[in-house]
Amino acid sequence: MQTLIKDIAEYVGQEITLKGWLYNKRSSGKIAFLEIRDGSGFIQAIVLKSAVSEEIWQQVEGTTQESSVVVTGNVSAHPKEPGVFELQVTDYQLLQKAEEYPITKKEHGPEFLLDNRHLWLRSKKQWAVLRLRHLVKVGFQDYFNSNGYLELDTPTFTPTACEGTTDLFEVDYFGRPAYLTQNGQLYLEAMCMSFGKVYDLCPNFRAEKSKTRKHLTEFWTLNPEIAYVEHEESLAIQEASIKHMVAYALAHGQEELTILERDTADLQAVVDGSFVHYEYGDAIAELQKLGSAIQYGDDLGAEDEVLLTENSLVPVIVKNWPKSIKPFYMKTHPDNQELVCNADVLAPKGFGEIIGGSQREDDYQTMLDSISKHGLPVADFEWYLDLRRYGSVPHCGFGIGIERMTRWMAGIHHIRETIPFPRMLNRVSP
Ligand code: 4AD
Ligand code: MG
Repeated sequence: MQTLIKDIAEYVGQEITLKGWLYNKRSSGKIAFLEIRDGSGFIQAIVLKSAVSEEIWQQVEGTTQESSVVVTGNVSAHPKEPGVFELQVTDYQLLQKAEEYPITKKEHGPEFLLDNRHLWLRSKKQWAVLRLRHLVKVGFQDYFNSNGYLELDTPTFTPTACEGTTDLFEVDYFGRPAYLTQNGQLYLEAMCMSFGKVYDLCPNFRAEKSKTRKHLTEFWTLNPEIAYVEHEESLAIQEASIKHMVAYALAHGQEELTILERDTADLQAVVDGSFVHYEYGDAIAELQKLGSAIQYGDDLGAEDEVLLTENSLVPVIVKNWPKSIKPFYMKTHPDNQELVCNADVLAPKGFGEIIGGSQREDDYQTMLDSISKHGLPVADFEWYLDLRRYGSVPHCGFGIGIERMTRWMAGIHHIRETIPFPRMLNRVSP
């Protein structure tokens, strides 16, 4: 029977069998230390030449990095490190001897590693980051599922743009143009009028020409959309859902966070604190004070996001932006016609935007004018206008960037490591 490394603590003093791969090996000729991984974790297996047959010893000596192996042994607690376990090997089978493995302990360049992404996934850091990605998704889903939201899916092929027409991926849809979805929001708005609270969790596509460490051309978002909820209440939901996700990752991801050397006190501070709110205008004034050249009416640049959050322990919300720089669907601010009821949530310590959201314009005429003003084809939006014709209500939604969230939670530099197979300006393979 096969035991998983993650369950090893239950087997101290017993003989078990692991099925995995050789991650690393040191041998003195008399004793070999094998680092075995099985997908669920990593463990050190110790082979004493004197304790096994000559045939087994030869197999151990002949095992190369990333060979597949079946290892049987007795589980013991590490003599010095509490919570760490070892395997004293009694039997051993080399399943397939790996060819010389391209990824070694020496430093490799990022393009080489990305070319070998299918193998790079096996490295300990990548294992930790992508397991954290899973926890980010499940942590958010846990929050929304237990608060009465329905997960419903939105289409990938769309006839129109959601977030502006400059970065659309066009596809030939049986002889007419269609676009890969930039975001499912418009469809979620229709669904929240039927189900009250909904969310989707799917890939979004944007032909981002920017080569930054925060942009992918294919990325995943979780988008809640909620009927009868107004802007400030939506911001409270965003805060509560982030805290729930962070607490979930802290509860289930200790090993991953340790491998990544993530300061968990930083994450606990987010769970315990209250998010900072800035009106857009106040954020601009603050940034100018901090030395930014930003002007009122500009979008926040990457450096501005850093300036505003580098000394903050908690996420920073920048809300109520000028209408002129925002998409057509955002609700006009009740106290200022030039502003919209929207917000970006910026992760603390310089990690930048992780959520973008808004209250949606619910007035038919204002929406119609906005669609025209943005130069969008009104005919394509008739179905969307119907939502303002038949029982229109205040409603809000927001988009949680799964890779941006994972990047922040993992505390890593580049977004390319937060998705199994990244798609970027210069890369669609492997
Ligand atoms: O801020 P965005 O563009 O908002 C929307 O698309 C809204 N329609 C969402 C909604 O209201 N339901 O995108 C949402 C989030 C961003 O905050 C960011 O975290 C992430 O998606 N994101 C990207 N992540 C990786 N690469 C890119 N190119 C991204 N663009 C946006
Ligand atoms: Mg945004």
